[in-house]
Amino acid sequence: MKIMKKLFTVAIAIMAFACSPAPVQEQVSTEQLSAEHQIARGQYLVNVIGCNDCHSPKRMGPNGPEPDPGRLLSGYPHDASLAQVDTSELRSWALFSPDLTAAVGPWGVSYAANLTSDDTGIGLWTEAQFIKCMREGKYKGLEGSRPLLPPMPWPNFAQMTDDAPKADGLAAAGDAGGFEVKLL
Ligand code: HEC
Repeated sequence: MKIMKKLFTVAIAIMAFACSPAPVQEQVSTEQLSAEHQIARGQYLVNVIGCNDCHSPKRMGPNGPEPDPGRLLSGYPHDASLAQVDTSELRSWALFSPDLTAAVGPWGVSYAANLTSDDTGIGLWTEAQFIKCMREGKYKGLEGSRPLLPPMPWPNFAQMTDDAPKADGLAAAGDAGGFEVKLL
């Protein structure tokens, strides 16, 4: 789990720098940060980039649905069910499930992946896999694998700078685990 969190750190850091207009001189190298700082930084990055919007199941809060703290980043719940949809509408519409962990559109149905440190998440991924996944939109970051489906915004993440992997950041992956990514 520790290893995965480290990998995730790197990946999130990359994204942060891709999305941030912060000048290069403000970057802090990983070596200069304690583990606690990296975790805090990663939590911050995941939150502001919005990975939870799609990758975390929701619970009802005072302002409506909010990421369920017990299932953060665990993706589309394995025991959820989707309502029937009139596919003739999908030529001109894309729809989300109520908790935003599944989406349907002209491409078919996509299910937000489990990004936890569980083996069924990204716990067994290498750093290179994660970076390839984010940069090239490759499923599981493997050479020759299928392209990632919408609405995963990987083309945005693909603009990450090369120096970003050395930057700080660590995602606090949820530990829900045990979910499979289901794809059509
Ligand atoms: C707008 C919704 C959305 C947002 C925001 C989003 N994702 Fe995704 N993501 C998805 C969907 C849907 C998939 C599944 C795509 C597929 O299977 O083709 C996915 C797939 C992935 C995968 C690939 C998993 C695999 O098994 O190959 C990774 C890794 C990932 N997302 C990481 C992230 C991270 C990290 C963030 C935040 C920085 C993020 N995503 C933000 C919707 C989103």
